[in-house]
Amino acid sequence: MPHTDVLDLPLVLLSNRGPVTFDRDANGRTVNRGAGGLVSALAGLAEHLDDAVWVCGAATEEDAVVAREAQGSLLVQTHPIPHVVEGEPDGPSIRVRLVVTDPAAYADFYSVWSNPILWFVQHGLYGRSLSPVLTRAEHDAFENGYAAVNRVYADAVVDEVRARGGKALVLLQDYHFYLVAEHVRRQCPDVVLTHFVHIPWPGPDEWRVLPADIRERLLFGLLGSDVVGFHTRRYARNFVLCASELLGLPTDLDALTITVGDRIVRARYYPISVDPAALDATLASEEVAAHVAMLRYIFLDDDRQLILRVDRTDPSKNVVRGFLAFGTLLDQHPELVGKVSFLALLQPSRTDVPEYADYIALIGGVVAEINARHTKEGRQPIDLRMVEDFPLAVAAYSICDVLMVNAIADGMNLVAKEVAVVNRRGGVLALSETAGAHEELGEFAVTLHPFDTQQMADALYEALTMPMEERHRRLAAAAEQVRTHDVARWLNDQLNDLRQIAGI
Ligand code: G6P
Repeated sequence: MPHTDVLDLPLVLLSNRGPVTFDRDANGRTVNRGAGGLVSALAGLAEHLDDAVWVCGAATEEDAVVAREAQGSLLVQTHPIPHVVEGEPDGPSIRVRLVVTDPAAYADFYSVWSNPILWFVQHGLYGRSLSPVLTRAEHDAFENGYAAVNRVYADAVVDEVRARGGKALVLLQDYHFYLVAEHVRRQCPDVVLTHFVHIPWPGPDEWRVLPADIRERLLFGLLGSDVVGFHTRRYARNFVLCASELLGLPTDLDALTITVGDRIVRARYYPISVDPAALDATLASEEVAAHVAMLRYIFLDDDRQLILRVDRTDPSKNVVRGFLAFGTLLDQHPELVGKVSFLALLQPSRTDVPEYADYIALIGGVVAEINARHTKEGRQPIDLRMVEDFPLAVAAYSICDVLMVNAIADGMNLVAKEVAVVNRRGGVLALSETAGAHEELGEFAVTLHPFDTQQMADALYEALTMPMEERHRRLAAAAEQVRTHDVARWLNDQLNDLRQIAGI
C-alpha cells in the first residue's frame, strides 16, 4: 500500500484514458473499470485517499452524457461492482471528472499530433526521407487541436486544484498533455507537480524533426513540472540534453536537473511494473485454466514448441519484422517446420490513424506469405488472432517457450514483465535492446536487435534450443526482479522523492 501522506495534499490526476468508462447495453448504463498497469496503479492510490480526483477524457458517447449530467466530477465506486455513488460509498471509490472536448479538436489532438506525430518522433518511427511532411494542416492541428485540447484539460485541472484551496499534488500522465504543467503552474503556483512520460524520450536530434517553435513549446510546457518522470535513466538524460541543446537552459547532466528561472526541475526515472499478486490470481482462475488446456492441445502436443507475442498493432512494436525473422528461422532450420508455432495475440489499435490501419494490412500480408511457404501437414506456423482477451493472454504467457518483444522502441513493455511472473515452462524472454524493460531484464533474456531479421532469427533459435535448466534459471531470476520491483514500488519511489523535493 503506498504512503498517501505526501504533504497531506489532495491529489489531482490527469490522463487521457481514465479509470472507468460508461457504455449502454439493453439494460441501460454500464460502468467498466479501465484496464492496464497505469490505471490500476494510480487507481490503487486514488481509492485510498480522502481527497483525490481523476481528470480524464470522455472516451465513449455515454461518458459524454455522464459528464454533462454531472457538471463537474462524480464519485464512482470501483469494487466489487463498479457504479456511480449518490451518497456515501461502501467500498473503494474514485472521484472522476470526465472532460468533453470538441470532436474536431480532439481528432487533431489525438489522431494527428499525439498519434502519430509525437508517438512517431518519440519512438523513432519516421523514415525521414519522405515523412513526416508538416504542412499548414499540421500547424493548424497543433494550435486548434493539441494546444486547444491541452488548454481545456489544464483548465479542468486548475478548477479542481482551486476547489481544494490552490494546493494539491498534481500527477500528469503521458505525451497527450505536454502543455498542461506550465499552464497549471502559472495559475496555481503552490502545486507540487509531476509529469510522467510513459514512452521513450529521444535525444535532441530526434526532436529537431519538429519545428523549433513547436518543440520549444512542448519542452517549456513540461518544464512547468517539479519532476518529469521517465521509465529509464537514458530517457531522463535525453530530456536534460534537450533542455540544454534545444532551449539553452543551464542543466546538470549528472544530477539530472534543469534550471528554469528561479526553479529547479528534476528529471527522474522510475521503471513502471506489474502487480504480481493480481497476475497470480488471474493465473489461478478457471477461465485461464480452460484456455491453458485448449492452447496446450493446439500448440504443444508431441514436444512441439510455442513462440508468443502479445501487442497492440502499433508500428513501434515491429510485428512485421518479427514475422520476417520467424520466416528466416524456418527457412534456415527446416527441421523446425511443423515443430514450432508462433501465436500472435494482437489488439487492433488507433485504427482511425492511417499509419496504424496500413500497418494492420502489412501484418496480414506477411503472415499469409509465411504461412503459405511453411504450412506442413495442414498446420500453419503462424496463428494470428486479433483479440483483446487478457485471460487468454495470461494462459498463453504461462505456457510459451519464447516470448518475442522486438519493439523498435518501447517505453517499458509490461508484457515481458507479465510473462516473467506467470510463465511456468521455463519461457525465454527474447527482448529488444531498445525496450525499456531491457534495462532490468536484459541479462536474463536473449537480446533482439529490432532491425536485424537475421540476428532475431538466430536469437529465436538460441532461445528454442537453450538447455531447460538454463531456461528455468533465467526465468526465475527475471521473476524475482519483477516481484521485488512491482508497480507499488514504482509509485512509492515517486512519492518518496516528492516528499523530499517538496520539503526543500
Ligand atoms: C501507451 C500509452 C498510453 C496509452 C496506451 C494505449 O501505453 O503510453 O498513454 O493509453 O498506449 O493507447 P490508446 O491510444 O489506445 O490510449
